[in-house]
Amino acid sequence: MLLVVGATGQLGGLVTHRLLEEGWPVRILVRRDSPSEVLARQGLATSADILIAAGAQPVYGDLKEPSSLAETCRNVDAVITTANAAARSGRDTVETVDRQGNRNLIEAAKTAGVKHFIFVSAQWADIESPVALLSAKAETEAYLQASGLEYTIIAPNAFMEIWITLMVTLPVLQNRPVTVVGSGDRKHAFIAMADVAAFILAALDNPAARNRRFVLGGPEALSFRDAAALFERVLGRSIPVHSVASGEPIPGLPEQVWPMAASFDSFDSPVDMSGTVRTFGVTLTPLEAFVRHQLAKIV
Ligand SMILES: NC(=O)c1ccc[n+]([C@@H]2O[C@H](COP(=O)([O-])OP(=O)(O)OC[C@H]3O[C@@H](n4cnc5c(N)ncnc54)[C@H](OP(=O)(O)O)[C@@H]3O)[C@@H](O)[C@H]2O)c1
Repeated sequence: MLLVVGATGQLGGLVTHRLLEEGWPVRILVRRDSPSEVLARQGLATSADILIAAGAQPVYGDLKEPSSLAETCRNVDAVITTANAAARSGRDTVETVDRQGNRNLIEAAKTAGVKHFIFVSAQWADIESPVALLSAKAETEAYLQASGLEYTIIAPNAFMEIWITLMVTLPVLQNRPVTVVGSGDRKHAFIAMADVAAFILAALDNPAARNRRFVLGGPEALSFRDAAALFERVLGRSIPVHSVASGEPIPGLPEQVWPMAASFDSFDSPVDMSGTVRTFGVTLTPLEAFVRHQLAKIV
């Protein structure tokens, strides 16, 4: 039995659907007060009802409530967790979910004798990071590595579905200029969520994935200006690109993502995926294929 925690999220939902399609027995942690049914209607989450109809077994609990996790982890062979508080609010915070909640889950998995724990972290997880989510991710990685559980840490670069969509696709579709922070020339190995899901599935029964941390990136490192140029090529029209200074508002983007959007202009993050691709036999989606697919769905 596999347990997916975060199944009602975007990546978590994708992983759960793939597991069910492959015939794995899957249990999902569902929250009684989950905002996911509403968010799912906007394409921002996954409906628990649809996962259950597809064959997932629900257990009701919450990472903030350790007592709910014992039953959740009973008779589970492997835990996959994508849960995080970044797109949630109220009592779900980095502190309660990403730091303490993950500890609660690791402890419950240990007590239940879980054989493999797969944690979705982030490439830039760093205990010293000023971004609370990234320092909490690093703390969870260290806690898991010291737990005695067999683990796989998946540390992806930025998701195309989130960052290319916010910074480029939405302004292009709304006929607004693309706004970059600073130069907009720093290059990042944006990765498609489907490819992250494929790695998670491949890690489940591959012994090479045990007790290791994998940084995952897309097949090429591109800047937001490169992405805008790609949309120009695909759509056959010119896309204006404006620049703002770090800390200035980014039109059309919620304020809470301005610091992260600005941080992309302070470093490059190419990822050499040759070894990981060879070991796991996963094909990576180029940004152009992602953009063509996204536009075909929307336009
Ligand atoms: N966005 C990026 O570019 C990027 C890059 C690298 C890594 N990542 C990581 O990749 C993962 C993305 O997953 P995703 O897209 O599926 O996330 P998501 O859409 O934000 O979903 C969040 C999930 O966490 C669950 N959750 C939140 N608080 C919880 C609690 N107290 N107890 C139990 N579950 C709780 C939510 O459940 P409810 O629906 O019930 O609220 C939901 O299932 C995250 O770990 C993220 O940090 C993202």
